[in-house]
Formats: sequence, C-alpha cells, structure tokens
Amino acid sequence: MTNNALHPSRRQLLAGLVTLPLAGCSGSGGSPGPISTPAPAPPSSVVPSPSLNALAQRSGRRFGSAVAAFPGPRVGGTVQNPAYAAIVAAECGVVVAENEMKWATVQPRPFEFDFTRMDQIVEWARANEQAVRGHTLLWHRPRWFPEWLNNYDFGANPASEAERVLSTHIRTVTDRYRGIIASYDVVNEAIDHDTNGLMETSLSRAMGSPEAVLDHAFRLARELLPDAELVYNDYMSWEPHHAHHVADVLRLLEGFRERNVPVDTLGIQSHIEMFSIDPATGVGPYAERELRAFLDEVVSMGYKLMITEFDVKDKALPSALPARDAAVADYTGRYLDLMLGYEQLEDVLAWGMVDGFSWLQGFAPRDDGLEVRGLPYSSDYRPKPLRAAIANSFIAAA
Ligand code: GLA
Repeated sequence: MTNNALHPSRRQLLAGLVTLPLAGCSGSGGSPGPISTPAPAPPSSVVPSPSLNALAQRSGRRFGSAVAAFPGPRVGGTVQNPAYAAIVAAECGVVVAENEMKWATVQPRPFEFDFTRMDQIVEWARANEQAVRGHTLLWHRPRWFPEWLNNYDFGANPASEAERVLSTHIRTVTDRYRGIIASYDVVNEAIDHDTNGLMETSLSRAMGSPEAVLDHAFRLARELLPDAELVYNDYMSWEPHHAHHVADVLRLLEGFRERNVPVDTLGIQSHIEMFSIDPATGVGPYAERELRAFLDEVVSMGYKLMITEFDVKDKALPSALPARDAAVADYTGRYLDLMLGYEQLEDVLAWGMVDGFSWLQGFAPRDDGLEVRGLPYSSDYRPKPLRAAIANSFIAAA
C-alpha cells in the first residue's frame, strides 16, 4: 500500500466498509468493538513516501508490523491509537497480533473462546487494506500456556484427549479467520535451549512426545487450510552461550522433512542483540559466515524464510544520539541486505513501529535508563534512521 491509500477519496471509499462478517463464531467472544474505520492520516510530513510496503513490493515482498488491540484506553501500539494506527496503515501491507491470538487470550478457559481483541485487529486490518498473519496457534512452552492447560486432567486416555484439546483450538481459531488469514505461525518456539531438546509440555507428556504435538499441529493446519502458508517460528538465539540453538533448529527442520510434516517456512523472529554483530564484517546477528551457512542449509531443505518480529536491542550501544540511531540503522541495513539476498525470504515484519510501545522497554531496558530505540519510528511518531535503512535495503533488493 502506498501513501495514496490515505488520500481522502480513498479514505472515503474505505469508510464505507463496516463490521466484518466473521465465519464460524463458535466462541463466547461476543461482537467486536467498533474499530472498523480506516486509520486517520498522520500529518503528511510524518510518513515518508513511498511506504515501506511499497518498497518491499518491488521485490515481491510485504512489509508489516505487529499491532495490539486493547478494549480500554486508546493508547499504545494499538489499532485504537489513531497516531499509531495511521503509521501502520501507511507503511504496512500486513499486520500480526502482538498477543491477541495467543492461546491464553483466545481460549482463556477450557473450550471457551474469546475473540474480542483479535476481531478488533482483523476488522481494523480489513478497513485499512492490510493482510493479517496468524500468530500463533501453538506457542509450545509451558510458560506461555494458559494455566488451565498446564494443569489439565487428560483423563484415562491422555493421548486422544490431548489431541482433542489441541485440535479443537486449532480448528476453532482457523475456522474463525478462514478466508482472512492465509499465513500462520502454526508453532512458535518449540526448542528448550537449556536441554537442547524439544520443549516438554502438558500436551507432549499426554501425547507421548513433543514431536507428536508439533507434527499433529502442522498436519491438522494443512488439512484445514490446504492453501495457507505454515510457518515454524523461532527466536533463533544467536548468542554464544546458546550456540547449540542454531543446530537444534536445523535438527527440528530436518525432522519435519523426514516425517513428511507440512512446514513451508522458517520464521526468523529477529529480535536482534546489537552485541552479537560479527566484528569482522559488521553483519549480524551472528558471525556472517555461520549465518549464511545456516540460511543456506534451511533453504536447501526447501524451506522459505520470513522475518517475523524484527526489532533491535540497543543496550550495548552508548547513550548519545544521533550516534546510537545511526549504529542501529547501519546494523539493520547490513542484516536486511544479507537476508534479502535470499530469494526465499518473503515478508519482513517489525515487532511494532514506534519505540515507546516496544516490549523491549520492559524486556531489555538500557542501563542508562533511556528509551530503547529499536523500531522504525520514535515515540513522537517521527521516522528514524532505522526506517531509512529498511527502505534502502528494500530499494537495493529490488
Ligand atoms: C516472542 C513471541 C512474540 C512476543 C515476543 C515478545 O518473540 O513470539 O509473540 O511475545 O516474544 O514480545
């Protein structure tokens, strides 16, 4: 989508769009809030033209971002925050829910579904001509399971009851967004980097192994959505103390192929640590040679690639601006140039567009107490050098 999408006549056109007819409402979510109006245009000086998505499209890709939806205050990185939503609408072609599709949100109690917040995102996306990615059908870590699922009594026949629980979840979510969401992170983060094995959960214990759970999730997703893109999404821990993680991901991907599990794409989250840049080449988030070797191996198995959650942890950089912004931008350009060199790389999604609303402010705060500046726009909604770096990489890839 270009900035023309915000031209008044287009907006008037879009304003005619009303609440989405959502299929298969089997849950207790109730009707979504009135979020279906297009995002108002930001001041024209704010969002550069062409948009990041228009530039991504030059090489057949999409640019997108995570968004949130809160029923309450119209703030944050939400579709209800007009200034934020306008930037996303102008810059992106695809959005993904930050937390609104996770198991604990959509199925807070056994077999009781609540799609209120996810529906708000989907409706907003429809009104603003954004595609939506699904994230995630199964985050295979006990920490991110709802408590009820960690403690669930699978009864006398645990394997079949666990399969029923998992299948019900996947079927209910994908049915609801059938025809709307065509690309899913079916499984998110299945590897335990402490043990180098696959993560055990209540589901894997009941079904006999983590592989049984993951394979079933992908096979069912394929059966339900034959044309959708099915992604295994991973944080790819490139840090030296997690060096095995890269090998563990390769082993998991090999296993999927050996067992004929329908996985199309590796989602590389790309929450990047500035300190993990290769000092020899300036490329990261790993020694460039190893990063390329890893990507080569993934694509040689027939997987496509996606950058699903890009942002930069700038903790290791000095406080001063503009040097800090320049370093983040420089790094990003090198990372994206390398990644975009792979024709198998499709969408590039940032994990948010505006620094102040980034999860990194809480997760990876700077020691100097200053705001982390790892997203394309500053907290006063101005594009930063990081935005220009992303744009330049897309231009170079065209
Ligand atoms: C992981 C998950 C995302 C999100 C981030 C932190 O990368 O995949 O959904 O929770 O952590 O915000």
